[in-house]
Amino acid sequence: MNKKIIWDKSFETGIDEVDAQHQRLVEIINSLADGIGHASMKDLQGILSKLKEYAQYHFQTEEGIMEASAYTELEDHKAEHSAFVDQILLFDLDVILASEGLAWDMFHFLRGWLTNHILVVDRQFSTSLQT
Ligand SMILES: [Fe+2]
Ligand SMILES: [Fe+2]
Repeated sequence: MNKKIIWDKSFETGIDEVDAQHQRLVEIINSLADGIGHASMKDLQGILSKLKEYAQYHFQTEEGIMEASAYTELEDHKAEHSAFVDQILLFDLDVILASEGLAWDMFHFLRGWLTNHILVVDRQFSTSLQT
């Protein structure tokens, strides 16, 4: 069963910079799926720290775009971003990565959050920018 995120056109927001960053986030999360059960603990931790850094970088980009366009839902959108970062920081990786089952649970959370956020929340803002 393929657990990875398969990128398709429905993920596109129409904002090139945002789409490129989303693709990078998908790649990082997918590399976790490749690594669970195969990669070393150190490598898996490296993937998670890359995800944390790149997600923050991406959120700054989006928030900058939303601020520049005086997007009315900016605060709610920002709150979603910071809740995600908080959740990543809360993961006890020593415990999670020691268990394949827990590692998959974490992967499913990340996959679910990212796909829902792109398809619903980011789409609301990209649509409002284009109208
Ligand atoms: Fe996004
Ligand atoms: Fe977002």
